[in-house]
Amino acid sequence: MADAAANLLAGGLVAFPTETVYGLGANACNADAVARIYSVKGRPADHPLIVHIASMDGLGDWADDVPGYAISLARDFWPGPMTLVVKRSGLAGDFVTGGQDTVGVRVPNHPVALGLLEAFAKAGGKGVAAPSANRFGSVSPTTAVAVHEELGDYLDADDLILDGGPSAVGVESTIIDCTSDVPQILRPGGITAEMIEQSTGLKPLDSEQESNSPEIRVSGSLEKHYAPAAKVFLDVTPIAGQGFIAASRRVTPTGVTRLAAPKNLDEFARDLYSALRKADELGLAEVVVEQPQGDGLAIAIRDRLERASKGR
Ligand code: TXA
Ligand code: MG
Repeated sequence: MADAAANLLAGGLVAFPTETVYGLGANACNADAVARIYSVKGRPADHPLIVHIASMDGLGDWADDVPGYAISLARDFWPGPMTLVVKRSGLAGDFVTGGQDTVGVRVPNHPVALGLLEAFAKAGGKGVAAPSANRFGSVSPTTAVAVHEELGDYLDADDLILDGGPSAVGVESTIIDCTSDVPQILRPGGITAEMIEQSTGLKPLDSEQESNSPEIRVSGSLEKHYAPAAKVFLDVTPIAGQGFIAASRRVTPTGVTRLAAPKNLDEFARDLYSALRKADELGLAEVVVEQPQGDGLAIAIRDRLERASKGR
């Protein structure tokens, strides 16, 4: 952890596990290091990054005018799969926020991520900017091997990939805009609208509703994103030669390659990205996914699948 933290402080990149997906980290105060994230990912420079911190005590370093409801959310759900978008402080440079006057902040819930962030803070670091550790537009990695497959060709010899096993949640954090009087969900995830309402007493606006801040750019909200090379079809009957992802109660038709058979929603989210990756590994041209119904994590899963089905 100390070595990895020192690497970040020296301007290197460190990919690390979180409970959602693996992130590609750089010192959030070092413009050159952050610029390398963009080139390694092939990501447009105006897409903002999430700053990861070791505990909510660090929120004040990065944010100004944090509303009371955002403090409730931080208390209730950090460390956890939730990113708060707040007014930025002077510490949050344009090179992290994509030039916006807000910044996304998250305390991840994974022992390796927290160990890294604590070691980084102890060595004088303020925060680690990290997007998901995939090339722009493709499926987020949920294992260290997947990070290596995505980015190995683009990383330097001094960069590190920390292996913390498979991510337990499997889909990216819920992003909540906390810059107006009511929270607004910009990207659905493991922290659901019901949980937000319970914590804050406020009914959050959802991502489909008219945005309070139309200028906000959420790259994960681009229509085409989270997509494997295979073409993804939703809620149709799979035919021979295709891959298939569906709840375990569904049978696999003859000649179809079953890629995942989750027993519940948690397993569906956890296994989804590795199953999409497996389709590409096996060279399948087409994958059929039967989407889970209902609320909670199912909303996040359908959000990602909608975009995956639009292709790259
Ligand atoms: O679970 C996660 O959030 C993972 C792990 C590594 O923490 N990170 C992640 O980062 O998914 P990324 O960059 O792949 O997606 C973060 C999303 C982007 O779509 C970005 O546009 C949005 O967060 N975002 C970051 N800062 C923002 C801001 N100030 N305003 C609006 N959206 C923001
Ligand atoms: Mg991403």
